[in-house]
Amino acid sequence: MTSPTAFAADVLAGLSRELKALPCKYLYDEEGSRLFGDIMDLPEYYLTRSEVEILREKGGEIAEIIGPEQANIIEFGAGDGRKTKVLIAHLLDVPADFTYFPIDICGNAVEKLASGLEEEFGHVRVVGIVSEYLNGLEKISRPDSGRNVVLFLGSSIGNFSPREIVTFLSNLHQRLCDGDLLLTGFDLRKDIDVLVRAYNDRAGVTQEFNFNMLRRINRELGGTFDTRKFRYYSIWDAAEGAVRSFLVSLCAQRVDIEALKMSFDFDAWEPIHTESSYKFSERQVFALAETTGFESAGAFFDSRGYFMDSLWRVKKT
Ligand code: TRP
Repeated sequence: MTSPTAFAADVLAGLSRELKALPCKYLYDEEGSRLFGDIMDLPEYYLTRSEVEILREKGGEIAEIIGPEQANIIEFGAGDGRKTKVLIAHLLDVPADFTYFPIDICGNAVEKLASGLEEEFGHVRVVGIVSEYLNGLEKISRPDSGRNVVLFLGSSIGNFSPREIVTFLSNLHQRLCDGDLLLTGFDLRKDIDVLVRAYNDRAGVTQEFNFNMLRRINRELGGTFDTRKFRYYSIWDAAEGAVRSFLVSLCAQRVDIEALKMSFDFDAWEPIHTESSYKFSERQVFALAETTGFESAGAFFDSRGYFMDSLWRVKKT
């Protein structure tokens, strides 16, 4: 779980930078996870619908590759599990012999997911873990025979910078064994208007989702952010290949944060970077597997070619 002190330290580091920034993982407290649930339902936010389509249509194929032998199905950033449920239904058809370990930094989300799965599937073994991704993995022991299958669905991998992605996947590779599997969601490069609309919804839910991070600082760290003095702004950075999101200060202002015993000055129109969401080409995805020690075991797309779930196998030599 994120301790208040870790949160405070990250806020301090982020707001002390030349280009102010707040780490996007702090978007997902209870309120933020609920708002992200609303984002996934937005007409503009094609990502979740595309991936659900992939898992519905191609999940049978994926489940066959996972196979009937004992497996830990370990999910990073499980959230409300709406995508995973579709895959679990296919796994039960095999039938696969698995325990499902959802890992999420939001304790409330993990609890709800575990009880929801029991209700829906009854006999599925679920062990929820409230943690950050790799720390959570450490807490899970391997099945006596069989393998670990890691799910990293959604576009969370795209929230890492290209350098962080390579570090993360290399660290993950190190903690896995030969033959283990990794299924990762990659949002693909596509028409710029489609991309930009997904992060600028008409109903303003994405803005509220970002504002919630400021409100969270107010709630948990005694901050004095007034969200009316900020606007959410998001662009496609073609050179970076990322949608970059900001909260922009509408006026010169000072914000106090009690837990840090500090104040932060904002110029008019000064941005706080809240998230980059990298979009990938197929070629980049295959190159990433190669660089980090995996081999491709399958690539699955939705009918519009908007999104890709890429299945990798751990290679150890
Ligand atoms: N990480 C998700 C994504 O890249 C969540 C998200 C959607 C998001 N819209 C956002 C994060 C706007 C920050 C700002 O799609």
